Amino acid sequence: MADPTATTPVTPAPASAQEAAGGHDRILILDFGSQVTQLIARRLRESGVYCEIWPFTASDDRIRDFQPRGIILSGGPASVNEGESPRAPQAVFDLKLPVLGICYGQQTMCAQLGGLVESGHHREFGRAFVEITDGCALTQGVWEKGAREQVWMSHGDRVTRLPEGFRPVGVSEGAPLAIIADDSRHYYGVQFHPEVVHTPHGAALLRNFTHAVCGCKGDWTMGAFRAEEIARIRAQVGAGRVICGLSGGVDSSVAAVLIHEAIGDQLTCIYVDHGLMRAGETEQVLATFRDRFNIKLVHRDASDLFLGALKGVTDPEVKRKTIGRLFIEVFEEEQAKIGGADFLAQGTLYPDVIESVSATGGPSVTIKSHHNVGGLPENMRMKLVEPLRELFKDEVRALGRELGMPEAIVGRHPFPGPGLAIRIPGEVTREKVQILQQADLVFLEEIRNAGLYDAIWQAFAVLLPVRTVGVMGDGRTYDQACALRAVTSTDGMTADVYPFEIAFLSRVANRIVNEVRGINRVAYDVTSKPPGTIEWE
Ligand code: XMP
Repeated sequence: MADPTATTPVTPAPASAQEAAGGHDRILILDFGSQVTQLIARRLRESGVYCEIWPFTASDDRIRDFQPRGIILSGGPASVNEGESPRAPQAVFDLKLPVLGICYGQQTMCAQLGGLVESGHHREFGRAFVEITDGCALTQGVWEKGAREQVWMSHGDRVTRLPEGFRPVGVSEGAPLAIIADDSRHYYGVQFHPEVVHTPHGAALLRNFTHAVCGCKGDWTMGAFRAEEIARIRAQVGAGRVICGLSGGVDSSVAAVLIHEAIGDQLTCIYVDHGLMRAGETEQVLATFRDRFNIKLVHRDASDLFLGALKGVTDPEVKRKTIGRLFIEVFEEEQAKIGGADFLAQGTLYPDVIESVSATGGPSVTIKSHHNVGGLPENMRMKLVEPLRELFKDEVRALGRELGMPEAIVGRHPFPGPGLAIRIPGEVTREKVQILQQADLVFLEEIRNAGLYDAIWQAFAVLLPVRTVGVMGDGRTYDQACALRAVTSTDGMTADVYPFEIAFLSRVANRIVNEVRGINRVAYDVTSKPPGTIEWE
């Protein structure tokens, strides 16, 4: 999965904004550090509008050059009444474009335009209701005057005096100016978060802003993206050769198929098999890419090398670093064998390249050093081809379907670069990998049979380094325990436990203990993230 802590090098943005957006209308989202800023972009993209998220520190010139049709100011953790709190760049107001301020965005807009924001008296968190006191272009056709509508709030400050030109159009218990409008300048502000699903009509409000207020056509579709991206890859690569590290995961797979459609045999994929994949995965990768898509594919079985290097290693970080290092070594060997290439393709996604603002203003702590297969170091001296760098995960899946890729690959749960090694706490051996593969297979089979696969972000088994006593038939067993993990999530950054029925879990436990030699006990991990992480190591 895309992870901001990954060490993947980030290439510069496309030469011009026009190029990135393929000539479509653009909306600029300025980020003030809210946890949910990415959701604004997702909602806009869902309604066919191309948008980008930039930090609030973006320069006036950069904003002007982007030529947006409108600007959205996100929420954020600061208070406008604190000394050094962030402000919207002056260009936001000088460009005379429509502006929508959300939560902190509304507050800073009001503070900058002459209104007043009050701190800390009326906190509202979670579900709240706004009463619609007047009509405006933002609520047109969605919320009628007089209605009481559910929204999601998360604020301590609130606007108490409007700048000149604004009028109130909605009020909540904690915010007398929960929705405001300046019709002549096309400035709007909401105290609540329309981008989260807990504001049921939020997407429709955002659509009103982008389509009705800003005049966006909403023609940014996957079909259009595919055609434009193919043209862009051809222009970038010319007659050059491209190599792509294939992991079997959604991102590198979709990138490979798209690039192949653009340049055919100029692309070679390298699949480094570290022997830590799930059951049947390698076979599926080979069948899909070689047989079905006719892509040139080098398969290097390096399982002896990886498992040999992991012998005696128990520390999770050492495991991750060992696998990452070997992956690069093997990849380099294979690419040298085929005579090198001019370009390296990567399945980098938009969340990797967003220059997000950390809530604390400082760099975030490294919890785990993520290793992305395909995330190769810059010193390989190849230019990068990153056709997915403007897309979110769900958009990558939509593109994969558009390209005719099988659901088994496109809809697949994320799988970490270091593979099953980080699902085997303690030393990794080939035997343990085989035991875990079988348990994992049973768990996923039952999930698929129950029709739950798509409702779950990630589900897998973990082989624990503990042996426990059991009884089977008339005999005593003394075997390993395994844990099952299944979570829901939208981006892997936070996660909730999937609430299986106990009957389902019992069925899985029964099958694993009966069918998988070496496991005699099954536990279900009920830790959310935070405080847990999704993987165990
Ligand atoms: P954690 O365990 O940090 O995982 O909660 C969040 C998401 O990232 C995936 N993950 C990885 N993906 N290389 C990857 O490509 C890695 O090294 C890696 N480690 C964790 C994890 O499966 C989950 O989706």
